[in-house]
Amino acid sequence: MLSRRTMLLSLGAAALPMSSLAGVKALTLRPGPAGLQVGGKQVEMLGFNGSCPGPEIRVAQNDTLRVRIDNRLQDGTLVHWHGIRLPNRMDGVNVLTQDVIIPGEAFDYAFPVPDVGTYWYHSHYLSYEQVARGLFGPLIVEERTPPDVDRDVTAMLFDILLDNAGQFDEEFPREDFATLGRMGNVKTAFLSAKSVRLGDRVRLRIINPVPDRIFTLEVTGLSGRCVAFDGMPLASPLPIETLVLAPGQRVDIIGDVIGEVDLRDAPSGEGLARLSVQGTRERRTDPVGPLPANPVPRPGKIAQTVDLVMQGGAGGGTHGGFGTWAFNDVSGLPQAPLLSARRGETVRLRLRNETPFPHGIHLHGHHFWETDASGDATYLRDTTLVAAGDTAEVLCVFDNPGAWMIHCHMLSHQADGMATWVRVT
Ligand code: C2O
Ligand code: CU
Repeated sequence: MLSRRTMLLSLGAAALPMSSLAGVKALTLRPGPAGLQVGGKQVEMLGFNGSCPGPEIRVAQNDTLRVRIDNRLQDGTLVHWHGIRLPNRMDGVNVLTQDVIIPGEAFDYAFPVPDVGTYWYHSHYLSYEQVARGLFGPLIVEERTPPDVDRDVTAMLFDILLDNAGQFDEEFPREDFATLGRMGNVKTAFLSAKSVRLGDRVRLRIINPVPDRIFTLEVTGLSGRCVAFDGMPLASPLPIETLVLAPGQRVDIIGDVIGEVDLRDAPSGEGLARLSVQGTRERRTDPVGPLPANPVPRPGKIAQTVDLVMQGGAGGGTHGGFGTWAFNDVSGLPQAPLLSARRGETVRLRLRNETPFPHGIHLHGHHFWETDASGDATYLRDTTLVAAGDTAEVLCVFDNPGAWMIHCHMLSHQADGMATWVRVT
């Protein structure tokens, strides 16, 4: 489909300054069946517009994204725009922000995108199953003045559980929910390009959209830096070492191609995807520097400190409620919020993991600051990984009014009780 914006870009990009194109990007996504080729075999999955994963959405910073979700599934669905700081009623959360979109119905999402970076969209209804089946896709917010790179490549990690017939495994055993979640038996990555040139400067956007697996990755063939976490540029880019991505997290790398670019699952050594090398260009001499920061508020005076205690799971402590997992003794979304914040308040959240499993804690509508041992802000993220038995503190500036979910992004844990919410007034 050629949108008006794409037409303008292709017809008039040379003549018009970018800013005059600021406006609206409109599209329709139809959740429905989609086939996926795995090892030469067609697997029946779900996707958007017949594609699994869904199509990549690209929008310029501060443009308004309008997406009609036209539900062609047999089930209800909802779409959440992970990491985007948007108005609450556009957040796509059952109970808190909207009703489920029933089969055959449509819902129109519309919101401006204030921050550049690598985001993604996914089903937020029965997500442990709908995301496992492929209802997710990349959402890229582009800089008005893009960084100096030759190629901009997206890598979506995936972890699929196939049955003996090589089809999506329809079983969701109880034990999975109470432990590490549903682990696939085929790990892969979908790349938006096949090849690069030796010497190209490449921006590689890695997204972990899988329900439960924490990926530990090795990326070889690129000499450069990690420049962003969860969409947000790093003030000081970091060396490309082993990358750990909890479900929901993203890492952007900018690097020069020095060989075939390989994404490898570090624990097993399995190759997930490869960008082959075709052709060559002269390598740049300037180092990879930081990208401009997004307009996210800095933490102020801490107005309140709130504990979020993770409980339950196999071998974990007891707690109230009926599910396997709990926050602060409640399993499942509680009536009362975890906290209420006045708009603009800085809150310190103490994330205490009292379970024998790691959890990736995700906050909607905001990014928060991870902190170092002395309590100083380090990285802006929307999902933070808390190891078994660990405590981590994050600082949130709650400047976006509404009811916002906080949950474990291991979607099996979320489904089995690990969810709460905050109210910002
Ligand atoms: Cu990426 Cu509540 O979700
Ligand atoms: Cu969890």
